[in-house]
Amino acid sequence: MKTTVITSRLELEAVNLSHSQALLDIINEQHEYLGEFLPWAKSYPKPLEFQEAFCKKAEKDRLNQTDFHFVIKSSQNQEIIGLIGAHKRLFPYQIEIGYWLSQTAQGHGYMTEATKSLTEACLEMQDIREVIIGHAVNNQKSGNIPVRLGFDFLEENKIPSDRLTKLNAMSGAHKFWVKRK
Ligand SMILES: CC(C)(COP(=O)(O)OP(=O)(O)OC[C@H]1O[C@@H](n2cnc3c(N)ncnc32)[C@H](O)[C@@H]1OP(=O)(O)O)[C@@H](O)C(=O)NCCC(=O)NCCS
Repeated sequence: MKTTVITSRLELEAVNLSHSQALLDIINEQHEYLGEFLPWAKSYPKPLEFQEAFCKKAEKDRLNQTDFHFVIKSSQNQEIIGLIGAHKRLFPYQIEIGYWLSQTAQGHGYMTEATKSLTEACLEMQDIREVIIGHAVNNQKSGNIPVRLGFDFLEENKIPSDRLTKLNAMSGAHKFWVKRK
């Protein structure tokens, strides 16, 4: 997997330690908005050391080829506006994309643009045949992204499944979408 993905308005840059403070500032300030659909965000605000540990782990996971986290930067002013990650979870030929965007950056198609390019980068990987996107059924904004990008509907889980356990996601109904090579 590449360490930088360039789109028309964005730069996706592999997460490293230098991103800790900027990520922490957004999450600490927006933990209630993010926590509605991302359970981990409910435990914020956190100190800088916590975010540094996250970024260090992201670097390690990339080296191990299991998880690929990218900060999303505006190419106009280099500001970090969100995070997107591709994660190997259930099957070695499958990778799952997850994302969040700063509340103030919503509504411009940035995440659709980032997800499109990351999906293409994932499908260029030799071992990957499927890209999955999952979201709570009531997370309409998240669900619009795979639909806009032409993903196919895969399944809806009403109870926590293997996939949800690995996702560390909230229980409850989730929809999953797939894009195949
Ligand atoms: C999910 C999330 C990333 C969606 O953000 P978003 O801004 O709606 O998504 P995009 O950046 O792709 O933008 C799409 C919106 O921009 C609009 N838009 C404007 N210009 C656009 C363009 N060039 N291309 C596509 N959409 C565009 C779309 O119409 C859409 O707005 P609408 O929902 O009012 O129709 C964001 O709400 C979020 O991070 N939420 C909290 C965390 C979360 O839920 N993460 C996902 C967990 S599964």
